[in-house]
Amino acid sequence: MPKIVQITRRERFSAAHKLARPEWSDQKNYETFGKCSNPNWHGHNYVLWVTVKGTPEPMTGFVVDLSALGEVIKEEVIQHVDHKNLNADVIFTKDIMTSTENLAIAIWEQLEKPVKKLGAELHCVKISETENNYVEYHG
Ligand code: NI
Repeated sequence: MPKIVQITRRERFSAAHKLARPEWSDQKNYETFGKCSNPNWHGHNYVLWVTVKGTPEPMTGFVVDLSALGEVIKEEVIQHVDHKNLNADVIFTKDIMTSTENLAIAIWEQLEKPVKKLGAELHCVKISETENNYVEYHG
């Protein structure tokens, strides 16, 4: 039986967004999306946890080189989103409703192949927008 271990890297970013449907009134957008519908944007301090899994390599005991994983997350995700407007600046989020749920899916798609190149398998992308909620996507 292979012994599969999961390991998680945490990164953080700050970004602006807005949740609103242009065809809806401001009132309906506010009722649906609350403060996240603010017409002139707002920001969040997001926390991102990326969990990968694999079998510890016999010589090192490591599932993955964590600093290499950190570099991949920075290159594929953080440098694109940090201090940016998710609805306007970011190629992989500008055409979606930038809910935390959809961000988790978009970030998964950014990371899946690069994580494989490190010799591990992506297991979970977890994001919190506020400290009271988080979402998880497992692909
Ligand atoms: Ni918001």
